Amino acid sequence: MAIQIGRPFTSTAQLKTLLFAGFCGSVLVACGSPDAAEPSDVGTPPAQADAISGPLANALPEPLDVGPVIADPAEIASPDSRTVVRVWSQDGEPHYAINRDGAPVLADSQLGFRFAEGHNLEAGLQLTAIETAAHDESWEQPWGERRVVRDHHNELAATFTSTEFEGGEITVRFRVFDAGVGFRFEVERGSDGTAPIEITDELTEFHLAESGEAWWTPAHEFNRYEYIYSTGAVEDAANAHTPFTVRLDSGPYLAIHEAALVNYSGMSLDQRRDRVFEAELRGWSDGGKVRTTAHFTTPWRTIQIADDAPGLINGTDITLNLNEPNALGDVSWLEPGNYIGIWWGMHLNEYTWGSGPNHGATTERTRAYIDFAAENGFIGVLVEGWNIGWDGDWFNNGEIIDFTTPYEDFDLEGLASYAQERGVRLIGHHETSAAITNYENQLEDAFALYEANGIRAVKTGYVDDAGEMLRRDEDGHARYEWHDSQFSVEHHQRVLEAAARHRIAINAHEPIKDTGLRRTYPNAMTREGVRGQEFNAWGDPPNGPSHTPTIAYTRMLSGPADFTPGIFDLTFERQDGVRGVQTTLSKQLALYVVLYSPLAMAADLIENYDAHPEMFQFIRDVPADWEESIALQGEVGEYVVQVRKDRASEDWYLGAITDETPRGLSVPLDFLDDGTSYTAQIYRDRADAHWLTNPYAYVVEERTVTASDVMELPLASSGGAAIRFVPQ
Ligand code: NOJ
Repeated sequence: MAIQIGRPFTSTAQLKTLLFAGFCGSVLVACGSPDAAEPSDVGTPPAQADAISGPLANALPEPLDVGPVIADPAEIASPDSRTVVRVWSQDGEPHYAINRDGAPVLADSQLGFRFAEGHNLEAGLQLTAIETAAHDESWEQPWGERRVVRDHHNELAATFTSTEFEGGEITVRFRVFDAGVGFRFEVERGSDGTAPIEITDELTEFHLAESGEAWWTPAHEFNRYEYIYSTGAVEDAANAHTPFTVRLDSGPYLAIHEAALVNYSGMSLDQRRDRVFEAELRGWSDGGKVRTTAHFTTPWRTIQIADDAPGLINGTDITLNLNEPNALGDVSWLEPGNYIGIWWGMHLNEYTWGSGPNHGATTERTRAYIDFAAENGFIGVLVEGWNIGWDGDWFNNGEIIDFTTPYEDFDLEGLASYAQERGVRLIGHHETSAAITNYENQLEDAFALYEANGIRAVKTGYVDDAGEMLRRDEDGHARYEWHDSQFSVEHHQRVLEAAARHRIAINAHEPIKDTGLRRTYPNAMTREGVRGQEFNAWGDPPNGPSHTPTIAYTRMLSGPADFTPGIFDLTFERQDGVRGVQTTLSKQLALYVVLYSPLAMAADLIENYDAHPEMFQFIRDVPADWEESIALQGEVGEYVVQVRKDRASEDWYLGAITDETPRGLSVPLDFLDDGTSYTAQIYRDRADAHWLTNPYAYVVEERTVTASDVMELPLASSGGAAIRFVPQ
């Protein structure tokens, strides 16, 4: 049940009086009190434009009378008063800035829009109204990292009215949480709200107040979101995907991202001047960045702020809170859980997706996987390469893919019913090769076929270089769009809606990034959008030891990832002779807890699990749906200690991973229930373990522990520990 405590101030006049008469003691305004530090200056005082005189004055049109303007910055504080947002009009340009504990984290940053035709909303904008509200509500997730999410924020809506043309207005709606800030634009470009318009530039700036260290992947590059993270000075990041993670020199951690990306194009961060990042929207192949109507609302731009790196992981609920509630109604048909698949064999080149003597998706092999799943508690079996279209150059021939016709050696109906007899389901696969029109033409039939066969989850795929998503326009001409364009955003939404009609969950690979839409569409369960395990089979180079301790604080801030952990044969031969999986075996187990996914794969060939049955037990036990999740310790790119409580029992789980550096961690177990003794089932590196020289050296042991204990965890180079705590 939602609990709501709203305190809206609807009268602007009333609010303005409160704000500018010095409304000390309010949660809405930071004031000079022992509890709330006075924010230091975050920008140039909002001097109004000087009157223009001389010959130029006659050339300019008279500014429109927009009524009384608000000359001083409006400001709003987070519920804990530590974060303060200021917004003002500076010479007719909207600006904002953010302070934390009285010091700037984002300095004076501009806002605005340019359009293909007609007036821009860039200058001549006066702050004419402000409204604020306080909000404290808790809501329940059907599945997730935690069952109950608290949405506690203060809101300020600042309206800027154009003095240049009638009906020009931007309302910037800020929501300030203890864990960061979200803001979006509600724009009116003229009085006819339905008139089509094209945004050519969103001028939103994120001006970091100081330098620091940043972690990012490059935007506007061929490999979509699948890059090893770069680390360096903030000034070195040219055009970065979000989430973009930064540790400012003075201490705070920031992550800039977006929430509720719908009917808009994806944003990356283009560093125009040192530390000034501007929103760069991915454009359409045939012009413009966003196609919308004259009255439009943007996604939320988000800035997470935390005192330490685990604080970023613990603060991600702001993304969900900025999305709309569940639009699908009853979603009890969604099934979080762990799955296996006919998948890794193709990446190792042992089987093929296409037909032939090494075809992976045969009826016989799928039956063996179904049996293995049934015996070990997996909910499903993914089968790739089951349908016509893979033979030849599937990467470039997406338009011949047929989503309803199986290969002759794959008995879809028979296998689907055999799986259900055994309490398992097939997991469907739609590799589109990014031929979008071909896929959309078959979408309904493809999902109907799967629904008729009891399939509840489908992995989709958009293999192709970024900028190569094939759209056929109304004349049948080929257009090539970006994976993070508005076209892609809208395609993914069409897929989610179609899948929901057939009670199917989506696990998208080569997807649009996650912006928390799973709140609105809970069938958006997981996705790739990360350099996943498959790069360890063939990537150049494979993912190094610091990759997963980096993505925990970067990509994972956006939402679940189908990283596909659980490789047990770590030392298979790659063609280049490089060690592919650069972890210990214990680290593979820990990834199930550290990298959240409600559909989590045990990725290896099933025969490889036989070699280490005592370690495989952890994968059999670990849930994929959680009552609570807490990141306890860590540093970006170095290590993570994450604990989660099972939603279906009183068990807790811990995952700890490290980079190349071995570590001895001391972890207080105070997250456990007081007064309860637990059996800790520990899967950890042995003292002589090392990812390169001794990756299989592990210890499986049990200990009795309580909440007052401190667990000592020795982690090897690129090692890890996984623990299940069972109440006694
Ligand atoms: C790339 C995906 O990430 C991978 O999981 C899949 O096996 C291949 N595409 C083929 O669809």
